[in-house]
Amino acid sequence: MGAISRTFLTVWTSVFVFWCNSELVTANQQANSDKGLLQDLGLSILPDVSKINISLAEYTKMMTSYLETVDNDVNAEDGDDIRARLLTFDVDKKIWWRRKQDTYRLRFSVPASPQYEVKNAQLRFLAAPQTSKPTTIRVEVNQVLGARRKRYLEERTLYLSQNHTKWCDLDITSAVQSWMHGDINLGLDLVCLDSNCEVDPLEAYITTIVHKKSSRIRRSVMYRPERRTDCQRGRNREKGKRKCCRQNMKVNFKKLDIPEMNFIMEPKVYEAGYCYGLCPPNYNHATNHSRIQSLMHQMEKSNPSSAKRRIPKACCAPSKLGPLDILLVNKDNPTKLMLEKWDNMVVIECACS
Ligand SMILES: *[C@@H]1O[C@H](CO)[C@@H](O)[C@H](O)[C@H]1NC(C)=O
Ligand SMILES: *[C@@H]1O[C@H](CO)[C@@H](O)[C@H](O)[C@H]1NC(C)=O
Ligand SMILES: *[C@@H]1O[C@H](CO)[C@@H](O)[C@H](O)[C@H]1NC(C)=O
Repeated sequence: MGAISRTFLTVWTSVFVFWCNSELVTANQQANSDKGLLQDLGLSILPDVSKINISLAEYTKMMTSYLETVDNDVNAEDGDDIRARLLTFDVDKKIWWRRKQDTYRLRFSVPASPQYEVKNAQLRFLAAPQTSKPTTIRVEVNQVLGARRKRYLEERTLYLSQNHTKWCDLDITSAVQSWMHGDINLGLDLVCLDSNCEVDPLEAYITTIVHKKSSRIRRSVMYRPERRTDCQRGRNREKGKRKCCRQNMKVNFKKLDIPEMNFIMEPKVYEAGYCYGLCPPNYNHATNHSRIQSLMHQMEKSNPSSAKRRIPKACCAPSKLGPLDILLVNKDNPTKLMLEKWDNMVVIECACS
């Protein structure tokens, strides 16, 4: 297991402990653990974000093996129709004009494909050397909707090079979603936001991960078979409160807003799950020990002579965890991607422990 995965485990574990003993965690303790988290992620072991330079060929090769790995792990028995696939579109037309800002308009023929669901899509381009211009620039990409109308997609800092070309990518998922859905495709505007700046895409592509729509709600990475301890409507309740079970929790790495998440290419979003609920005596114990602890808690509670209660109830926590396939930038070479399996990233079952 790599250093990032170990730190992730720490983060995850502390999140679970936080839920479990939520009444015990003070604001102060929480602040300390946030600091710990950033320290844990250890900047020294990560590549410099400004050096990331993943070519289209490298992306295509590694993304293809990632998709195969996920398919083999998740839904070998589900057949072809829900398999995620990678589509690539080369730029058709590039128009440059200078008004207030430097803007490139890029046109791609992405056919309307209502049979596909778009998981994500990126604009990938090879930026020209900056020669005498600033190398760190802010850019924005917009979907063109009409002569004066556009839709903002993403803004990003690019770290270009003075003497070399450099690969960059921007998230354009919602634009590709709308084109595949059948909306008119007027292209994308790549806009440089700083004064006196320019970003010239020598080559430009769209890469998108799609899968066929399916009547079943089975979605590659997000799909998981139903398990014994999953929370279900109207089940597992006591005095109107839910008893310990597994709830869904979608994690969006980008929204976690930790700079290190820039290194994760896939998945962007995954179903992590969490455990929550009451642990009454004799309910779904993880171990014989937790059964005993639960009884000890009950006994202390019903004994008026014990002035202070000390033995806690068993608490609802993951009893079975599963790994997650991750495609990320190689720590030792920021022009390469690598596949890792991070352990204990997904809650499979919950129990009182
Ligand atoms: C780029 O090339 C020029 C001329 O060859 C050189 O003077 C300069 O140091 C180079 N810059 C970088 C960042 O390598
Ligand atoms: C980025 O990678 C391309 C090849 O994929 C290479 O030609 C270019 O020189 C690299 N840029 C830098 C700054 O290393
Ligand atoms: C409790 O111990 C008994 C005897 O060793 C064992 O059969 C049983 O599986 C244990 N229960 C749990 C929940 O671990």
